[in-house]
Amino acid sequence: MARIAWTLKDMPSQRGKRAYVTGANSGFGYQTALELARRGATVVLACRDASRGQEAMRAIRAEVHDALLELAILDLGSLASVRAAAQEELAKHAPLDLLVNNAGLMTPPTRQRTSDGFEVQLGTNVLAHFALTGLLLPAIERAPAPRVVTLASIAHRQGRIDFDDVQSEKAYVPMRAYAQSKLANLMLALELERRLRRGGKRSVSVACHPGVAPTNLLTNVGPKWIAFVRRWVITALSNSVPGGALPTLFAATASEARGGGYYGPQGLGEVRGNDVGEATIAPQATDEAIAARLWATCEELTAVRFLDV
Ligand SMILES: NC(=O)c1ccc[n+]([C@@H]2O[C@H](COP(=O)([O-])OP(=O)(O)OC[C@H]3O[C@@H](n4cnc5c(N)ncnc54)[C@H](OP(=O)(O)O)[C@@H]3O)[C@@H](O)[C@H]2O)c1
Repeated sequence: MARIAWTLKDMPSQRGKRAYVTGANSGFGYQTALELARRGATVVLACRDASRGQEAMRAIRAEVHDALLELAILDLGSLASVRAAAQEELAKHAPLDLLVNNAGLMTPPTRQRTSDGFEVQLGTNVLAHFALTGLLLPAIERAPAPRVVTLASIAHRQGRIDFDDVQSEKAYVPMRAYAQSKLANLMLALELERRLRRGGKRSVSVACHPGVAPTNLLTNVGPKWIAFVRRWVITALSNSVPGGALPTLFAATASEARGGGYYGPQGLGEVRGNDVGEATIAPQATDEAIAARLWATCEELTAVRFLDV
């Protein structure tokens, strides 16, 4: 595994760049927006809840007084909201240098559905980001050196794309559905890179994962005392939230990050560490036939088609 000595100090200036970060009000999305703003980017915080988005903007401005921030209302649990948010962004006619597909949710104990009827982890983590990427691609392609960054997870290694029950309708096992969604995030990021290269496009697609860190994703699940214990254990053993955001920031800004790369922390089985490096890609994530089938499934379910081969 190749370690890359890259820290926040190495992050290049982002002045003049426009970045769109999903789920920017919390966890790694917030940390990513903060650091991009600190380096001078105009950051669009794409959040489903206006007041949580505004609170995040206030918190960023408390640290970075001249931060260039915009709020976009984006509910990834609704394709109508994805289309409306993309339309709003495209209407600005601003080249989009960076899209960070960060937002996500993990393992609701019972099967839940998005407003389009998709199993909520597939719908939010995967389908909505697929649609958003396709819809925003015209703006992304207008930037000089654009990147699309997608957050996967160590959990992808346990994943399998179950085309017979991709929506977990026959059987819902929370972790299985989450692992499938994160495997899909990684496979689609790699497939996006292949399609961008085949299509002679300017954008590159880079994937990353944060290790494990005590964000709301992991600590807000279950009764309060379990959440408290989980937060304590995860804080003691795993990554910090700023440490977990480092692979995203590397993928988003480092000259060393390459299209088709997958980056994560290098300590304790990629769970933690402030050193970014190449992350382990599970063998099933490299199956190009499955990736092409997954892409077609996403196109069918979202009715968003792009970079067709
Ligand atoms: N934490 C970890 O250890 C870990 C490990 C591996 C991968 N990841 C990945 O890291 C990414 C970020 O998660 P996090 O750990 O930073 O968790 P987090 O603090 O819970 O942040 C998740 C963000 O996603 C947003 N979100 C959820 N559902 C949404 C929807 N329907 N529409 C729009 N936004 C939505 C949340 O908004 P609200 O605040 O409104 O809910 C929040 O801003 C996820 O993709 C996750 O899979 C996390």
